[in-house]
Amino acid sequence: STKKIAVLVGSLRKESYNKKVALQLIKLAPESLDLEIVEIGNLAHYSEDTDNNPPKEWTDFRNKIKSADGFLFVTPEYNRSIPGALKNAIDVASRPYGQNAWDGKPGAVVSVTLGSIGAFGANHILRQSMVFLNVPMMQQPEAYIGNAHTLFDDQGNLTNEHTKKFLHSYIDAFAKWVEKF
Ligand code: FNR
Repeated sequence: STKKIAVLVGSLRKESYNKKVALQLIKLAPESLDLEIVEIGNLAHYSEDTDNNPPKEWTDFRNKIKSADGFLFVTPEYNRSIPGALKNAIDVASRPYGQNAWDGKPGAVVSVTLGSIGAFGANHILRQSMVFLNVPMMQQPEAYIGNAHTLFDDQGNLTNEHTKKFLHSYIDAFAKWVEKF
C-alpha cells in the first residue's frame, strides 16, 4: 500500500539546494511512496504558554505530521547544528506534552551543504532529537551531500550522475525501511 511521507526541508531559502535535493528525491521515489513537502517557515516559535490557544498554523502542521506514515528530512547545517526553523517545527509537533505527533513512525535524514563534510553535524543532531521522539531513523545508507553547488546546472537540474544514482538508491532503501513499520 502507498505510504504517505511528510518531507521536511530545513532551509527556507528560495534557491535552496536542500529543496532541490528534496524535489529530486520526490522525482526518483518508487510508486509506493507518496511524498509531500510540508512547510515549516510559517510556524511561530514554540512556547508552552500557547498550548491552550495554539495558532492555526501549529494545528495544521501537527495534523499533517499525525496523518503521515513517515518522515524524510532534508536539511542544511547551521553552525554545526540544524537550522532553528527546523528545530522549532520538531518542537511544535512534539507538544502539548503527551501528544507527540511524530511518535512511532519511521524517518530518515539527508543533509546537504556547500561545504565538504556533508553537514555531518546537522545530520547526527537531527537523529538525536528524532530518536528521542520515538522515530526510528534509517541507519543505512547514510546521506551526506557535500559541495551541493557543483551538482546542479543553472536551471536547478541535478547534473551529477553519481549523485543522481545515489539518491535513487537512497529513496529505494527508504521505501523498504518504511515498509517495516
Ligand atoms: C551555514 N552554512 C554551513 N555549512 C556547513 O557545512 N556547516 C555549517 O556549520 C554551516 N553554518 C552555517 C550557518 C548559517 C547561519 C548559514 C546561513 C549557513 C552554509 C550552508 O551550507 C549553505 O548556506 C547552504 O547553501 C544552505 O543550504 P540551502 O539553503 O542551499 O538549502
